[in-house]
Amino acid sequence: MEMNSANVEAIVKQVLENMSGSASSASTSNNKANGSIPATSKVAMLTALKHYELKEYPIPPVGDGDILVKVEGCGICGTDAHEFKNDPFNLIPVVLGHEGTGEIVKMGKNVKVDSAGKPLNLGDKVVTCMIFKDDPAITMFDLNKQNVGGADVYGLLPDDDIHLNGWFGDYILIREGSSVFNVSDLDLKSRILIEPCAVLIHAVERAKTTGILRFNSRVVVQGCGPIGLICIAILRTMGIENIVAVDGEQKRLDFAKRMGADNSVNFKDHNGIEELAEGVKAAFGGHLADFAFQCTGSPIAHANIYKFIRNGGGLCELGFFINGGDATINPHFDLCSKEITLVGSWVYTLRDYATTFDFLKRAKAIGLPLDDLISHEFPLEEINEAHETNLRMEGLKIAIINK
Ligand SMILES: NC(=O)c1ccc[n+]([C@@H]2O[C@H](COP(=O)([O-])OP(=O)(O)OC[C@H]3O[C@@H](n4cnc5c(N)ncnc54)[C@H](O)[C@@H]3O)[C@@H](O)[C@H]2O)c1
Ligand SMILES: [Zn+2]
Repeated sequence: MEMNSANVEAIVKQVLENMSGSASSASTSNNKANGSIPATSKVAMLTALKHYELKEYPIPPVGDGDILVKVEGCGICGTDAHEFKNDPFNLIPVVLGHEGTGEIVKMGKNVKVDSAGKPLNLGDKVVTCMIFKDDPAITMFDLNKQNVGGADVYGLLPDDDIHLNGWFGDYILIREGSSVFNVSDLDLKSRILIEPCAVLIHAVERAKTTGILRFNSRVVVQGCGPIGLICIAILRTMGIENIVAVDGEQKRLDFAKRMGADNSVNFKDHNGIEELAEGVKAAFGGHLADFAFQCTGSPIAHANIYKFIRNGGGLCELGFFINGGDATINPHFDLCSKEITLVGSWVYTLRDYATTFDFLKRAKAIGLPLDDLISHEFPLEEINEAHETNLRMEGLKIAIINK
């Protein structure tokens, strides 16, 4: 080949292109250590009160019993709001997010099935439930009440060398011994709503133990945040039709009707508890409620709710996930002389998770607008704004959706 200047120029150009090409492919292989899995993952870490920072950590090796999940989205829970504002669990710095879901991108050779015995494969969509670190033998087929004690939750774990411990990130590492469910047959919004819905499945199961909740019961649901609204949807999906919603926000009461309440009472329209109780009675056509669900974190609301319930009726109190202070009731008038049956409810069991998957399908099948509960979506980069929006109570369920 004759080495004229044009040829030299072409050869130099080619060599330079190859060099830059190999440089970029080297950096690609650096970042994409394994197929399409990058070497590092972004996480949103709460590093101070009201302050998340995006941090980047190496994706750790996936052990034989571990699962690496690419996060698709995660709801913001009231617990995250408490952590954001006050850090009551003393976790900062922490990667939060426990209402998350995503796709399996890598798993250890020992991972074969989920906590319900369903096969797990690459590409499956999953959610996590509690991690029974003190008793890993607990399964969803164990019907003992195992909702408290010894259970950890991804998104509320102390930070460690792995860092990918919560669903507010690009990837999460699910470690051996965790409860995980294959929910590939549910759409993204349903999957994000599983955790809060499980809280209400559990509450309704607790309510049923009283023997008072029946198809034709008149049921009052006090508090129409996500928790109360999901409560209404579950009652409606069970076939209970006579539901009155109580709240002070008209927009939420209107949503409660779309969710299945057939009447609503705005407590701001009533002066004092006697008048409010009359309002509830009128909403039931002149009857008090057979059963009530207390879904606010307000001690006053707890004290009020007894007045809405008939003699011999039942109450499920589930509004106090954390200590919200003391409530004053009159034990004679509110409990003894009325013979109220009261149950408390806190979180859920593995079995409640499985029930929740079926509930979500049935609720959608009868046309309840569950998806509309997710009122705002933010990318991970805007997680501080997402939390501020949540604190301003502008929406209902706010979710981080990864691109
Ligand atoms: N039991 C559990 O395991 C569990 C799990 C999750 C959340 N929770 C609790 O459930 C509660 C509700 O959660 P959320 O996410 O729906 O909260 P939220 O703050 O969005 O909703 C609470 C609703 O109650 C209404 N409210 C306040 N005071 C009232 C009153 N006096 N009478 C009637 N309505 C009143 C508010 O207007 C609001 O719409 C929280 O306090 C939370 O701690 C419990
Ligand atoms: Zn939650």
